[in-house]
Amino acid sequence: SASPVTVTVTGAAGNIGYALLCRIASGQLLGPDVPVRLNLLEIPDAVRAAEGTAMELADSAFPLLDSVTVTDRAERAFDGAGVALLVGARPRGKGMERADLLEANGRIFGPQGRAINDHAADDIRVLVVGNPANTNALIASAHAPDVPAERFTAMTRLDHNRAVSQLAAHTGAAVRDIEGITIWGNHSATQFPDLTHATVTVDGSSRPALELVERAWVDEEFIPRVAKRGAEIIEVRGASSAASAASAAIDHVYDWVNGTQGRRTSAAIVSDGSYGVPEGLISSFPVVSEGGAWQIVPGLEPDESLLPGAGERLATTVAELESERDAVRSLGLLG
Ligand code: NAI
Repeated sequence: SASPVTVTVTGAAGNIGYALLCRIASGQLLGPDVPVRLNLLEIPDAVRAAEGTAMELADSAFPLLDSVTVTDRAERAFDGAGVALLVGARPRGKGMERADLLEANGRIFGPQGRAINDHAADDIRVLVVGNPANTNALIASAHAPDVPAERFTAMTRLDHNRAVSQLAAHTGAAVRDIEGITIWGNHSATQFPDLTHATVTVDGSSRPALELVERAWVDEEFIPRVAKRGAEIIEVRGASSAASAASAAIDHVYDWVNGTQGRRTSAAIVSDGSYGVPEGLISSFPVVSEGGAWQIVPGLEPDESLLPGAGERLATTVAELESERDAVRSLGLLG
């Protein structure tokens, strides 16, 4: 059987951590044949709660779970890590300015990037979930000069899954009949969920999504609803998305490791300059996973003729990523 993989989860005592850990331990992150060693990183005040979750992991008697380590020391948590899920982050407090938020998170993600650089396995794969996810991933990557930038990613898979689900519900199709949606840019309200190359299989044949839905629905309902779904969940559930965020994190890492067999999805990965996104930004693109690496799929420029304003939407979310990068750079957070 396969050798065990060390999976590090930060913010393990939080909501997403709670929804995530049993799924990792049951084999859903890496596959049903891969034993897992879980390393849980928390701040000192939350270590005890994480130990409680570790007790529940033990009580679940997962055959694939080799060990669980709970710690507040990053060097220990990332030691030998093959996968790191960076979920713990500093939420925006009352009256906190954007610069304060970026700085507080820089103080978390800089040292964690450094610890990954110094202690993780050579083939480490990092997924940043904690917000602002794209820029936190950029900060961590900047502090890990020995780790290829391609190995630092941020999560837009939840946005992608939300978009797939909304289109399926609106067209009466099944989720499995939806293909080719792209989330562009930042995991924020400026993100662009793009249907201009999406298809829906209807009665066995593939149809362009934009032939099946009205423009007004796309502009006034679909795009804002996907972008603001997090707030909608908070309003209805009384707490922020946790199960769906954990599920998306599982999807992202599973696909990264095991490949997508040509099926497209969305992930925030380092830009090589594709689609006019400045090189080095961590931006969401249309991607496939092949041979254990994400690849940006070319030739899928948002189609202005199908959705006027599409190009502008892409430009807006990329401009926001640039301004976040410039802000953390001027705070000295990029090393
Ligand atoms: P939470 O507040 O329930 O849990 C966060 C946990 O992180 C807490 O237990 C806290 O003690 C821990 N933490 C804080 N600083 C840490 C550090 N330096 N090292 C280790 N642990 C640390 O939050 P929840 O609901 O689990 O969400 C976590 C993050 O995920 C938030 O930033 C949230 O905005 C983000 N998020 C991102 C999504 C995405 O699609 N990219 C979707 C949903 C949430």
